[in-house]
Amino acid sequence: MKQKPIVGCMRWGVWGENFNTKQYETIIEQCLSIGLDTFDHADIYGHYTTEADFGEALKNNNSLRSQIKIITKCGINMLTPNRPIHEIKSYNASAAHIRNSVETSLKNFHTDYIDTILIHRPDILMNPEEVALVIQALKKEGKIKTFGVSNFTTSQVNLLAKFVAVEHHQVEISLTNIAAFDNGVLNQCYGNKIEAQSWSPMGNGMFTEKTEQNLRILFTAEELSIKYNVSVNKILLAFLYLHPVNIVPVVGSTKFERIIEAKEAMNIDLNREDFYKLLAASTGHEVA
Ligand SMILES: NC(=O)c1ccc[n+]([C@@H]2O[C@H](COP(=O)([O-])OP(=O)(O)OC[C@H]3O[C@@H](n4cnc5c(N)ncnc54)[C@H](OP(=O)(O)O)[C@@H]3O)[C@@H](O)[C@H]2O)c1
Repeated sequence: MKQKPIVGCMRWGVWGENFNTKQYETIIEQCLSIGLDTFDHADIYGHYTTEADFGEALKNNNSLRSQIKIITKCGINMLTPNRPIHEIKSYNASAAHIRNSVETSLKNFHTDYIDTILIHRPDILMNPEEVALVIQALKKEGKIKTFGVSNFTTSQVNLLAKFVAVEHHQVEISLTNIAAFDNGVLNQCYGNKIEAQSWSPMGNGMFTEKTEQNLRILFTAEELSIKYNVSVNKILLAFLYLHPVNIVPVVGSTKFERIIEAKEAMNIDLNREDFYKLLAASTGHEVA
């Protein structure tokens, strides 16, 4: 069954629209009005400011928290004046870091639980048994409900899954990045009932960078948008929605109209040939 989109908040703060508290409240309510209740964050968004900005809206309107699900991520240490202690960008999936991040996110969102915590990037020094212990403890304390990863390889997921249930995997999947179709990530999600979430589902820079690949994709998507009588955005998401793993797109628009379109893309059933036309536009050639 197709899964409704997750709403990505990366561009809602200082990395994008810089919404004020009222605007956060409005867009959260608008998303809820169309049944979209899951919001994707990371500790680093807005150089560590977007979680707290979003949290102000939850504090301001205390009816919101119980209606929404919050995903957030930890494990990237970003170089920014907001974290002067960091001397270099690095990854940290130690138990202490995961626990500290979760505790900070709880404060930022003015909540006592996070629905889903993801490890944002694979940390070479990650000890899977240590991760398992802290995740199990945080679940037991009621501070997190589910756990997953982002941008991991299949072998990294396999190793971690020997010690702790990996319930979600968020990777980049779109017409400009179809690696997950071939590298085993989606097969692993299907076979192990891991929810597959796609970040940048519209294609990183699709509308701003005029690369040959982007132009080919947009040309084909426009042809199909006429055939199916829907927008190009809907065609780009309908491509992902056809995959049997039931990819959950994490849509990054700051415009409610485009968020509505993302939900409506669930209603489009591309035929197989049209899926393969888009794939050929992405790769530049037909399948062998
Ligand atoms: N796990 C990770 O490593 C990772 C990495 C990156 C992102 N993420 C998550 O994934 C979410 C989505 O990422 P994303 O924002 O890159 O996704 P996206 O949905 O692929 O792209 C959204 C961007 O495309 C623009 N856009 C969409 N349709 C357009 C059109 N027809 N014409 C012009 N511009 C258009 C949007 O502008 P408007 O705002 O004007 O609509 C927005 O800037 C993020 O919010 C974040 O939660 C996760």
